[in-house]
Amino acid sequence: MKIGDRHYRSIWLSEDDETVEIIDQTRLPHELVIASLASLEDAAVAIETMQVRGAPLIGATAAWGFALAMAADSADEAVATTRDRLIRTRPTAVNLRWAVDRCVAGLARLPQGERRDAARSIALAVCDEDVAINAAIGEQGSRLLLDIVSRGSLDRPLSILTHCNAGWLATVDWGTALAPIYRTHDAGIPIHVWVDETRPRNQGASLTSWELMSHGVPHDVIVDNAGGHLMQHGLVDVVITGTDRVSAAGDVCNKIGTYLKALAARDNGIPFYVALPSPTIDWTVKDGREIPIEERAAEEVTHITGCDDEGVTRRVRLTPEKASARNFAFDVTPSRLITGLITERGVCPASVSGLGALFPEMAE
Ligand code: MRU
Repeated sequence: MKIGDRHYRSIWLSEDDETVEIIDQTRLPHELVIASLASLEDAAVAIETMQVRGAPLIGATAAWGFALAMAADSADEAVATTRDRLIRTRPTAVNLRWAVDRCVAGLARLPQGERRDAARSIALAVCDEDVAINAAIGEQGSRLLLDIVSRGSLDRPLSILTHCNAGWLATVDWGTALAPIYRTHDAGIPIHVWVDETRPRNQGASLTSWELMSHGVPHDVIVDNAGGHLMQHGLVDVVITGTDRVSAAGDVCNKIGTYLKALAARDNGIPFYVALPSPTIDWTVKDGREIPIEERAAEEVTHITGCDDEGVTRRVRLTPEKASARNFAFDVTPSRLITGLITERGVCPASVSGLGALFPEMAE
């Protein structure tokens, strides 16, 4: 995607051909800072501290972490310790495990001397495939949005509500939930996006809004609790979110608050779609309630960071000094509340048979 005149991916091999560069997402939207990853530990810490985040980008960063690790030491023991270090970074997005397993499977059978180059090839392939998959999700989802426009009698732009950031910053490029939005906007169809701020880390307010603004997509940031009210008043035509892990039966784990949006959408008869690349499907999990939910530091709830009127980034406390807080990062929306899953192969019902029909090679 473009920032100004320059095309960026969210992660790339640097010109020195040895380090990997990322956009440091903890600094957005106030500063565009490019950070350099030179080691496995740099990659692992970037995932843990959410300099990179979003399920597909976490997977891509893990693959690059593997490549950086193999450049330093490609012994059998290093393959095992690299896997363990990366798997520990964040628990919920299954793309992490998918990418790490792909690296291990691709490297373990090779002689040690070939692992460095092979790991780099795997990382490049994971990134290129992610871009192609998300471009396809954009096409599939845009068809769906055009269909909603052509069936309705809208006297205003098509209104889409999204939660968290499932844009190009959350992937290598294009995004998942935002890919159909970009494509539809680029096709000249008038659209408007309601952007949930997404407390506590505010991925909507800081990242989605920044992305949409860079691309010229009309949008408004709203507080997380506004969605139901807007739906009751006919101001939302469709909801599209991303996801961190989908069960084989179509239950969707995504950023905390997604479930409440799905409930409100169901109560108001509004279609609720989830966009996902196939590496986000966990074929080993049937019931979404089995998915591990990350609990992050309480400080993310008790404190907030922003830019003051002088342009200085500051962290301030919201709560009484010793207030206790809990920070559940994700929730699970049951498949029955989901109108359809938008994948790179098409749109399907959120069910075993729906996913099985699109991915017969993966279904039991
Ligand atoms: O905690 P985050 O910012 O990594 O959570 C991201 C999300 O929940 C996204 O909606 C999800 O990863 C889909 S990204 C295409």
